[in-house]
Amino acid sequence: MRTQIAAANWKMNLTLQQGEALLKGILSKAKTLNEHQQIVFAVPAPYLQAAVNIINGTKNVFVSAQNIYNKKSGAYTGEISVEMLNSIGVTHTIIGHSERREYFNEHYKFLAEKVDIALENNITPVFCCGEPLGIREAGTQNAFVAKQLEESVFHLSKNEIKKVVIAYEPIWAIGTGKTATSQQAQDIQHHLRSLIAKHYDEETANEISILYGGSVKAANANELFSQPDIDGGLVGGASLMEDEFVKIIEALK
Ligand code: 13P
Repeated sequence: MRTQIAAANWKMNLTLQQGEALLKGILSKAKTLNEHQQIVFAVPAPYLQAAVNIINGTKNVFVSAQNIYNKKSGAYTGEISVEMLNSIGVTHTIIGHSERREYFNEHYKFLAEKVDIALENNITPVFCCGEPLGIREAGTQNAFVAKQLEESVFHLSKNEIKKVVIAYEPIWAIGTGKTATSQQAQDIQHHLRSLIAKHYDEETANEISILYGGSVKAANANELFSQPDIDGGLVGGASLMEDEFVKIIEALK
């Protein structure tokens, strides 16, 4: 079975004290994970070390950065490198979140370089794709997300792409309370898997976890995660609430 993942993206929220309390609370209440289930916490950069310390090697629970830079080190004031993540035990990073694409003008090539440097340094990229409302309304979302994959991850070898987690996050469903229906999410995630199968092969496509993100909450997680091509969620708002996120973890297949 493919790895099923409940990923929390705290974005730019919480103080250290609030974050530590939340993390401890979730870990104390979360069910025991089986071998194909994982929890990933993408916490703000100043809390990465604290999160690693709290998780303390708990099996199948990982800490993720929300962003990295595309260079290993150097004069890039304010940026975070994969070497830094490695040195403190952070194993994942989000790449290409729509908020980074929109507010920080991160584009295909830059994202491809981030994916490369992450993989070269054994950091798992959680690569985000997803269309804005106008594209959905025009009905061209399949071509839009195809281009996102083609330009930023399809240069990878078969072995490399198998290490990437993909998150489909329709921008119109992020933080809006408006979730894609489970059928809409399933349809486009099936499309993403088909694109991978076409570019690589079926076996590769069947190994890659594809998460859904966009107003995931306890009340809709079961239905979303029960879809065949949805392998868990990348969760914003609801990951800041202990009981909500614990229930989302319980909804993993
Ligand atoms: P919400 O769950 O708040 O809609 O955010 C989704 C998201 O952007 C996760 O990366």
